[in-house]
Amino acid sequence: MTAATPAPGDGRQVGVGAAPGKVILTGEHAVVYGHPAVALAVTRQTTVRLTRRQGPSAVGHSIGQDDRLHDALFRVLPREGLTIDIETELPVGRGMGSSAALAVAVVRALADLEGRPCTFEDCFELGMRMERVFHGNPSGLDHTVSARGGAVRFQRTVDGPQITPLSTPPLTLVVIDSGFAGDTGQLVQGVAARRPEIDPILEDMGALSQQIIATLERGQGGAHLGQLMSENQRLLARIGVSHPVVDDIIDTVLTAGALGAKLSGAGGGGIVIALCDDPAPVLGAARRAGYTAFPVSVLEP
Ligand code: MEV
Repeated sequence: MTAATPAPGDGRQVGVGAAPGKVILTGEHAVVYGHPAVALAVTRQTTVRLTRRQGPSAVGHSIGQDDRLHDALFRVLPREGLTIDIETELPVGRGMGSSAALAVAVVRALADLEGRPCTFEDCFELGMRMERVFHGNPSGLDHTVSARGGAVRFQRTVDGPQITPLSTPPLTLVVIDSGFAGDTGQLVQGVAARRPEIDPILEDMGALSQQIIATLERGQGGAHLGQLMSENQRLLARIGVSHPVVDDIIDTVLTAGALGAKLSGAGGGGIVIALCDDPAPVLGAARRAGYTAFPVSVLEP
C-alpha cells in the first residue's frame, strides 16, 4: 500500500531521483526461468522530480502515450500531493530498461523528498511492483542492474535473486535502434506459451551465459565474446523473439566488422547491441542503413 500523501520528511518541497538504463549481454528470457544473465548499466538515464502540491497528483512527461504509466506510478507514489516530472535519455520500450530506470528513479525521488535513505531493497521491492504493471512476470534483472550500476550477474532462485557484481574487461558496444518496440509482456508470455518444447533451448542459453561469464572473468572482451553473443542471438531467434528488422541490423553490423551482435531485452524489434573493436564503421553502416545508432559505456557502480 502507498500512503495517501507523501510523508512530510524534513519539510523538503522537491525530491529528485535518477537511474540508468541497461543492455543485456546474455540471458534475456532464459533468466525468467532461473538461468543466469548478465546485464550492464549504461550511461543514459531517467530522472524523476517530485514537487509537493495541493490536490491530486499530476504527471508531466514526454515519454509517449502508455496507459500503464499512471497505474505503475501510483503503485508506489501517493495519488495526492505531488507533481511528477519525468525526463529520460533512453529510447522508451526498446529493451534498454526504460521502465526499470523509471521505477528506480521514482523510488529514489520519493526517498529524497521524504528525507530518508533509499536502499537497494527499496529499489528492488518497489521497482518490482511497478515493473509488474509493464510486464506481468519480470525477473527483476532490469531494475537490479539499474539500481546497482556496473555489470551484474543475475539469477532467480527459490530463495530470491542471486546478484553478483562482475568486473568486465573494457567493452566497446554500439546500440542500434530498430525504430519500433516489441511488447515485453507479450513477448515474455509468448515464450511461456512455447514451453516445455523450448526448455532445451533455454537450458542452452543458460550454459552459454555461464561461458560468457567465464570469458568476462578471464578478462576477454574480444572476438570470442563476440562469437558467444552471436550464438545467443541464434538461440533467441529459435525461441521466436527476434524480428526480420533485427536480423537485418545484425547482418549490417557483422558485415561492417562487428565481433558479434544480438538483440538486447525482450526482442520483437527494440535494440541490437554490437560488440566492436572499432565502433566507427559499425556506427557508419547502421546509420547509412537508416537506423539510429550510438555507442554506450558501462556506468560504474
Ligand atoms: C527484458 O529486458 C528482459 C526479459 O528477460 C524479461 C525479464 O527478465 O523480466 C525479456
